[in-house]
Amino acid sequence: MRIHPLEALKKNPFVLAPMAGITDHAFRGFMRKLDASVVVTELVSATGLEYKSERTRSLMSFDESQRPIGIQFFGEEPEIVARAAQIAEADGADFVDLNFGCPVPKVVKKGAGSAMLKDLPAMQKMLSACVKAVKIPVTIKIRTGWDHASRNAVDVCNLAYDEGITWVAIHGRTRAAGYSGNADWDFITDVKAKTKIPVLGNGDILTPQKAVSRLKESGCDGVLIGRGALKNPLIFADALSLWKNEPLRTDLKRNYAGIFMDLNHAIRAHSQEHITNIQLKKFAMWFSTGYPGASAFRKTIFQLKNNDEVLSHAIDFFNSIGTIEQEDTSHEEFLMGGHG
Ligand SMILES: Cc1cc2nc3c(=O)[nH]c(=O)nc-3n(C[C@H](O)[C@H](O)[C@H](O)COP(=O)(O)O)c2cc1C
Repeated sequence: MRIHPLEALKKNPFVLAPMAGITDHAFRGFMRKLDASVVVTELVSATGLEYKSERTRSLMSFDESQRPIGIQFFGEEPEIVARAAQIAEADGADFVDLNFGCPVPKVVKKGAGSAMLKDLPAMQKMLSACVKAVKIPVTIKIRTGWDHASRNAVDVCNLAYDEGITWVAIHGRTRAAGYSGNADWDFITDVKAKTKIPVLGNGDILTPQKAVSRLKESGCDGVLIGRGALKNPLIFADALSLWKNEPLRTDLKRNYAGIFMDLNHAIRAHSQEHITNIQLKKFAMWFSTGYPGASAFRKTIFQLKNNDEVLSHAIDFFNSIGTIEQEDTSHEEFLMGGHG
């Protein structure tokens, strides 16, 4: 049974941001169990799908536990992206998300991703083609603009509203800014106030408290959390409890050893041996951020080849943390590149 993503937002406004190489089948299922309200795949090439690339197809796999799940596409040809949307609909996806935020030169050079922010007539054609092609909701994810002088998120929101788009998620940086500086939440707040379409704010939410305050202060209909979930996988569960004024969920394993074990099961069920190895190491490294001994732990874990060894080394480390609080590392640069 499909779930409308806007309905999900009313009960829980905290959405997992799409992240290439991270928000795969395993991680999305894991995050839904930990209270992310809506999940989205990483960006999928509509052209790759058109050419029947198996790797591209595999990025679209999901199961019922992930609903509501959106498939995110990027591309420059409206007809090709619209056909990709139809495939997602036929697969049973709850919605389709279009990527207009990717700053990567390879994507932008072709006129896709954030390049669309510079060409609203082209964007209009794509929105119109996709909305006509499918019955499921179509959402978009943008940046505030191409560069500081051309921040046109309000125009994009108005266009999206006119074309029947369901929501606009705004990463509060320009394409030119990349991942530098801070996400501009004053700008997001202003855009939300000036447009009729539901707006989701995004950028630099690293704690549950910040998720709730950004949501309330911006007036947004929801917020997207990306990198914050990699340092603290309980960020959604705790933000939801705070937002509802309820005590924190006690049924969750409030130790990273237990959480990491769950993630390990999910990854092993859906990934090949060598991908499992990379994913386990990445997540162990990120979850360890801000705990004593983290840098020594990272060095050793990266040398381990066998997945069981990686797991047991991680479990030992997380067990050793006990009740120590995670240090605030928000001032440190963290994953300063991505596709949106
Ligand atoms: C490693 C990485 C990969 C990303 N991949 C995507 C992507 O595939 N599609 C997309 O729209 N945004 C992508 N993004 C952007 C995030 O969705 C989000 O907009 C950005 O990280 C800011 O939010 P945050 O501060 O909560 O992480 C990616 C970001 C990172 C760090």
